[in-house]
Parts: sequence; structure tokens; C-alpha cells
Amino acid sequence: MPQKRDSWAEPYKIKMVEPLTMTTRGQREKALEEAGHNTFLLPSELVYIDLLTDSGTSAMSDRQWAGMMLGDEAYAGSRNFYRLEAAIRKYYGYKYIVPTHQGRGAENILSQIMIKKGQFVPGNMYFTTTRLHQELAGGRFVDIIVDEAHDPESLFPFKGNVDLDKLQGLIDQHGADKIAYVSIATTVNMAGGQPISMANLKALRELTGKHGIRIIHDMTRVAENAFMIQQNEAGYGTKAVAEIVKEICALTDGATMSAKKDALVNIGGFMAINDWDIFEEARNMVVVYEGLHTYGGMAGRDMEAMAIGIEESVQDDHIRARVGQVFYLGQRLLDMGVPIVKPVGTHGVFLDAKAFLPHLPQTAFPAQTLAAELYVDSGVRAMERGIVSAGRNKETGDHYYPKLELVRLTIPRRVYTQAHMDVVAESVARVYEHRDNITGLKMVYEPKYLRFFQAKFEKLPK
Ligand code: F0G
Repeated sequence: MPQKRDSWAEPYKIKMVEPLTMTTRGQREKALEEAGHNTFLLPSELVYIDLLTDSGTSAMSDRQWAGMMLGDEAYAGSRNFYRLEAAIRKYYGYKYIVPTHQGRGAENILSQIMIKKGQFVPGNMYFTTTRLHQELAGGRFVDIIVDEAHDPESLFPFKGNVDLDKLQGLIDQHGADKIAYVSIATTVNMAGGQPISMANLKALRELTGKHGIRIIHDMTRVAENAFMIQQNEAGYGTKAVAEIVKEICALTDGATMSAKKDALVNIGGFMAINDWDIFEEARNMVVVYEGLHTYGGMAGRDMEAMAIGIEESVQDDHIRARVGQVFYLGQRLLDMGVPIVKPVGTHGVFLDAKAFLPHLPQTAFPAQTLAAELYVDSGVRAMERGIVSAGRNKETGDHYYPKLELVRLTIPRRVYTQAHMDVVAESVARVYEHRDNITGLKMVYEPKYLRFFQAKFEKLPK
């Protein structure tokens, strides 16, 4: 049973530090210009507090670092692979695993095996790499998330839920055999880090079970989702996060995992599946794209660190502190009256750029603009999660126009302090004060795939 605590204070102390560069406003203006107003193109040495992503940016524990020394760098059959496999079976419960270098490696293999050309892949909102791999495999993503997820003001606690009527409608219209599988993320990144409830997942299992449709779980942030179920769903308040994680996984047929998030490592991922035939195909395909099926693009030491990280990630004290820090920043911004996605997400605070910069049309890239302004103000680096990230519709060639136009302040795990969170909140408040003077951007370079990573922009004239 989880221990009751008053504070989210960290269950660890600091043993090693990494100095940060402090820059001047002039240096930051120059760096941003050179980066084409894209925070992805900034050298990290010129960033003070890096909230670009929580992906691969966690601090590992002393146990994980010690584990790195136990790396068995054999090409085949590394002992660390078996440790990883055992950890995944113990904490997540999936039967068969295929290691990959990171999440998208698993998405590629799974999509190629499980999607037939022309099939639909309904999901609780899209994720950039996940949808792209579904499309490259010939699938068509369909958003079946509840409407509340698209409304940054809605206080619904489980905005990651699937709207079962939307799924039923798709089945009625096209037939179950036209659906490759249902793609479910715990928690939903693009919705602002919002969880799915266990009740919804159970209902989804029942519906898909009737039609013989599989559920594939993007479990990148499953422990954070489990924590929100523990906090907010009836009947789960006395269950440990580890128990809830396993219950979530048991309601699904397989998973893709970017271990760079929840699992507290800097690189790594895997695909997991309970079906032997799909596993066999994946285990064969992994040698084409990633590496042998007992390392999948990772070093032995990386697999060891992941095995230990998985165990640490499902501890109640860890996850309470992790999400607690994010909530602290969110609450500070709410108290200052800054428009953010509510409820506060579990891996970051998402600024509502449409409400922040209402004078900018979506085609002037409000979220991209806001992320750039924040960097210039304080050296805090955030990420656009709006029209640039959404990309273009392959059929029409026009932008996708997502309802949510967000800037993500993503908090790495076990890295920054409460004082850092205060610096971030104060910088956002300063930018908010002079928001009326902010002009938008125009895109001057657009790469073909996942354009947000490498696109370049210029400032529009006043
Ligand atoms: N699924 C989700 C929900 C993710 O957030 C990510 C990565 C992936 C899959 C892909 O995993 O990066 O290991 O290949 N998200 C990062 C982010 C990039 O910043 O949110 P990957």
C-alpha cells in the first residue's frame, strides 16, 4: 500500500553536478537567429535550463551507473539482455520482447508487421513518430480521443480516454478487419501529458475483444499514468503504482516503449508482444533495422541501466516526486494567471500559445514564436507542440491545423531543482507581460519528415 506523505520532496540526494552555462541576452538573440528560431537547432551549451524534452535527459541513479560497469558487450546473448527481459516481464508482464535503440525503432517494426496497406489505426491522439510510422506502413491514423482532450480549459481528469462511440463508429463504417489495431498511449503526450483511466481501458478491452481487435500500448510514460490513476480513480487509492502499471499492461496485447522517458535511461527502447507469431516476425525484422535480437541497437551496459531504471520508475516515492515537481511549476504558472493546459500534465507544463498570443494566426506559428521568446528571455529551452509538429496532410498537402497550439515545458527526471522551476515560472511571466509586442514567424525551410526538428523560421515584420 502506498505511504501517505505531505510533500513531494525528492527521495534522493545529489552526488554529482554538471555546471550550466549562463549567457547574456545578446548571446541568446544571436544563437536563436542562427538556429532559425527553432529551439531544436540551438547548441545545448547555450541553454540554461533545458526543458526541450524529458526524453533521454534523466539523471541516472548510482545503482544504474554501477550497472553500466556490468555491461556484457557480447554481440550475441549478452547477460544484460536477459536481465532486461526479466525486468520487463516482472514489472510490465508482457511475454516476448524485442530490444530497439529507442521508441521509434520499435514503432517502425511493429507498424510494418501489424498494418496492412489501407487499414485504419485509431488512437488516443497522435504522436509524431508513431503516426509517421503508421503512415509509412500504409496505415491511416484516426483520432478517437475524447473531445475534452482538445480543450485546454477542460478540467476532465482523464483526457487521455478513448471515445468508445468514435471507435464503434469506425468499426460500423469500415468493419473490424479494416482496423490494424487500436493504438493507446499512457499518458497522452500531445494532449498535454494527460492520462487514460483504468475504467476506460477496461471498456476498450471489452469492445475490441468483441471484434477481435488488438490493443497496442505506447507505454513510454506508463508509470506517470498509473500514478494519476492512483491519485484520481475510485478504487485505486490504496494500490501501489507498480501494481497499477501491471494492470494497465495486462489489458493490452503488446507495446512499444521509449525507455528514454519513464525508464530513466539516456537511450533505449523495446517492442513487447504476447503473440508468438508476431514476435517471431519482429525478432527477424529487428536484425535488418536495429541489430541482433539480443541487443537491438543498444550496448549491453545500456540494457543493464534500463533493467534497473524500469524497477526504479515504478516506485511510489520516485513517481510522486517526479510528477510533484511538474505540478509545482504548473501551479506557479496558474497562480500567475498564465494560460496553460489544465489539468497540469505529468511530464511537463504546456503553455496554451493560442490564448497567450491571441493576436497571432496559427499560420504565424504562435507556439514556435513563444518558445523562441522564452529562450531569449532567460535561456530556458522549450518545445513547440502545435502546427509545426502536426506537419502536413499527405493527401491535401496543407498543414494539419491542430486545435492545441502548445509550448511544452518538459521536465527531465531527477535533474532540476525547485529553484530552477521558479526561474522558469518567472521567465514565462515576464514574456506574458510583454506578449502584445510579440510578432510571429514565417517558415523559410521545411524538411519532408517530422519538420519540427529541423525547420527554419524568420521573424515577421511588425
Ligand atoms: N511515443 C511517445 C508518447 C513519445 O513521447 C515518444 C518520444 C516516442 C513514442 C518516440 O520515442 O523518441 O525514443 O524514438 N517523445 C520525445 C518527446 C521525442 O520529446 O516527447 P523515441
